[in-house]
Amino acid sequence: MDPSRRSRALAAVALLLVAALTGCTGGEGGGTGRGKPGAAGLGDPYFPELGNGGYDVRHYALTLAYEPGTGRLTGTADITARATQALSAFNLDLTGLTVHSATVDGEPAAVRRDDAEVTLRPGADLKTGDTFRTVIRYSGTPVALTDAEGAREGWLRTADGAVALGEPTGSMTWFPGNHHPSDKATYAVTVTVPEGLKAISNGELTATRPSGDRTTFTWRSTEPMASYLATLAIGRYETKTSRTPSGIPVHTAARGNPPLLGRIPELLAWEVENFGPYPFSSTGAIVDPLIDVQYALETQSRPFFDKNTFNASTLVHELAHQWYGNSVSPESWRDMWLNESFATYAEWLYAEDFGDKPAQESFDEAFADDENWAFPPAEPPTAADISAPPVYYRGAMVLHKVRQAVGEDTFFGILQGWPERYRHANASTEDFTEYVEEQAGEDLTTLWDTYLYGEGRPTEPSA
Ligand code: TRP
Ligand code: ZN
Repeated sequence: MDPSRRSRALAAVALLLVAALTGCTGGEGGGTGRGKPGAAGLGDPYFPELGNGGYDVRHYALTLAYEPGTGRLTGTADITARATQALSAFNLDLTGLTVHSATVDGEPAAVRRDDAEVTLRPGADLKTGDTFRTVIRYSGTPVALTDAEGAREGWLRTADGAVALGEPTGSMTWFPGNHHPSDKATYAVTVTVPEGLKAISNGELTATRPSGDRTTFTWRSTEPMASYLATLAIGRYETKTSRTPSGIPVHTAARGNPPLLGRIPELLAWEVENFGPYPFSSTGAIVDPLIDVQYALETQSRPFFDKNTFNASTLVHELAHQWYGNSVSPESWRDMWLNESFATYAEWLYAEDFGDKPAQESFDEAFADDENWAFPPAEPPTAADISAPPVYYRGAMVLHKVRQAVGEDTFFGILQGWPERYRHANASTEDFTEYVEEQAGEDLTTLWDTYLYGEGRPTEPSA
């Protein structure tokens, strides 16, 4: 061995020793290294504390019981996750409720609570790549939150039940989890409520079991879901199950029977024509006029509508989110415009096809409205702006400009190709501009600079 080779070999041995002593094995295959605590947040540009580092949730099995009279929720969250680093401890996001106990792989874990963060320290470190199960028992009276722009979300009580809405941060009010859209997972939600009430969640209803004066409903989401799209609605609803002509189950819940519910199969079929195959195994809607939050939400597979939002255009919008936002999810809350631009453009296309109003007219109206120019859609200034008008309408203007630039065939190809390329995954603004330029076969820098990133309104709509 020549001297330089020997010194390199010695250096390698020294590095291995250091790694063994410090527990840093350089990531991959973590092996026997000592774990470190996972990060308490994922560093989202608007909500840095949301989500947690060091693991990736695969499945949430939530077993819940709710008493509308007292507002008390009792829950067990059985979470299957994969460690992405060697972990001595990891966090979950949860607000308002009390954690009674936790286990990791069946062994007791120490629990620490600090605001909206729960820290679990298992008896033994987890290794990189380990799949583990953590079971958290909790209870309390879940709270509603007021988000940055003043909208109410989280656990919203009604006279006979409650509705859980989670955009952007409300899901931490009813179950512990990795509450950032970048960590999608499958779900099983089992809910026990007093007899006579219904409990509706996302996905398919797989069991309804009466027991004494209670009923237990089990819902399963087999496609990945971002936690902000999880919902639970409890109340004296009329529920209906039917199928679309192509066989997709339709589960609806409402008070009374709004006729618009009957149009879901037709509107979904129109969206399939335009956006490509429907990405989930069921559809439907939840309409609760006892909730007055002044918005609808694209809760996965089954959008929610409050007192004033159940109309055809909003239904088209929320169903369009199933492709744009729910199947293709934002990488961070900065990418919100990718959700809202497409859902708003779906409304413009609906007006074009069903209402004799060309998308160009919708564009011109949006262009003329000062409030749509307050900031560039790809860069909302604060968390209070992620659902402000520029995200919706200037976002939709971006898509209309793309349509003008690339022509009808390529544009409708993009509407289908984008949710196909990122089906059940996450995408960022840069993924979008790259994809569009690839499909267009041309550089669209000027369009992005003017409509997506630029400050202020261009002097002419044709710019
Ligand atoms: N995403 C909903 C929609 O457009 C609106 C919404 C409700 C929202 N709450 C929000 C958007 C919080 C951003 C943040 O249908
Ligand atoms: Zn929307």
